[in-house]
Amino acid sequence: MNTLWRNANLTTLAEPTGWGQITRGALLTEGSSLRWVGAEADLPAGLQVDAEHGLDGALVTPGLVDCHTHLVYGGQRAAEFELRLQGASYEQIARAGGGIRSTVTATREADDGELYCAALARAQALMAEGVTTLEIKSGYGLSAEHEARCLRIARLLGHELALTVRTTCLSAHALPPEFEGRPDDYIAAVCAWLPGLHAQGLVDAVDVFCERIAFSPAQTRRVFEVARRLGLPVKLHAEQLSDQGGAQLAAEFGALSCDHLEFLSPAGVAAMASAGTVAVLLPGAYYFLRETQAPPVAALRAAGVPIAIATDHNPGSSPTLSPLLMLNMACTLFRLTPEEALRGFTVNGARALGLLDRGRLVAGQRADFVAWPLDHPNQLAYGFGQHLEARSIVGGQERPA
Ligand code: NIG
Ligand code: FE
Repeated sequence: MNTLWRNANLTTLAEPTGWGQITRGALLTEGSSLRWVGAEADLPAGLQVDAEHGLDGALVTPGLVDCHTHLVYGGQRAAEFELRLQGASYEQIARAGGGIRSTVTATREADDGELYCAALARAQALMAEGVTTLEIKSGYGLSAEHEARCLRIARLLGHELALTVRTTCLSAHALPPEFEGRPDDYIAAVCAWLPGLHAQGLVDAVDVFCERIAFSPAQTRRVFEVARRLGLPVKLHAEQLSDQGGAQLAAEFGALSCDHLEFLSPAGVAAMASAGTVAVLLPGAYYFLRETQAPPVAALRAAGVPIAIATDHNPGSSPTLSPLLMLNMACTLFRLTPEEALRGFTVNGARALGLLDRGRLVAGQRADFVAWPLDHPNQLAYGFGQHLEARSIVGGQERPA
């Protein structure tokens, strides 16, 4: 089925730099792909289409790709937010058994229906702001059974909703209470259950939280070696609170991305550049934890490391469901340009998931695009806290509002 989408103010991101704007543009979709993108005036003569829709001159961008979320969990951590406001640090709370561990308890106690409904509402909020591809990590189950449950819920969301879901197994997120004092034994357990999760089709990538309050580079390596044997790509929560040399380790394994990166060293930047690893910057977590050291954006830029932006939605460090607010914060807090921020939430976010078929509006890419009630793409990052009624077209089909 061929569908023509007319009267669009296109931002294609077709080239490595520049918005790629086409005023009075059109998109021709064939099934779930883009077949032709250009100015209406250049539409091929004698074109036969099955359906035609007008986009009322709306700003049209590629669909947003939220490449880093922890969407499936029970409970919430507002009380921990209050403790932090009174002076406790994220690390202190984690060491005292709160933080991620408290969400693990709430997640294990929640039944499947509760977990599914909560994650569904979060996914719908992201979709309302133009997300068409979503990564979801496990990491609040921390046992074979509970990790599988959370990944299954993530997969189910991908089947039920009009968006692509990619799952990431982050079992090495924190030490569960039953392994207290035995982190190496827990890593052995993760390495043992990973092949089973993969065999059930639940895992698209493998992630580890490499940090002094989580797992060491040596423990990270053990998990990555299993991922490599299974042919699964890796990602890493790297250098969020301290420089662990995680980026170099991840680059050695050809990681799709390293995420957070506030404490990334020059050696880490160089390693990521040579491995083609994407830097996923997470301004929500930086803001909410009231961090003061920003990631080395100028060094990443100079080295040609692709930069992605994501919500990092999770109950502890980034309880936001607003991609647009993240675009704004990427500019104000990390000094990205509005164009770099949008690229970070589209083409580079897709690349951080190993998806090269989306993120730009060019023929051959997936027909995932969003029509916004705006005049210029720089307005996406501008109106912070704005609520826009966006129309999303996913795989060539308009998603019901
Ligand atoms: O990406 N850094 C580790 N993981 C999450 C936070 C998890 C939590 O606090 O529940 C993050 O910031
Ligand atoms: Fe995260």
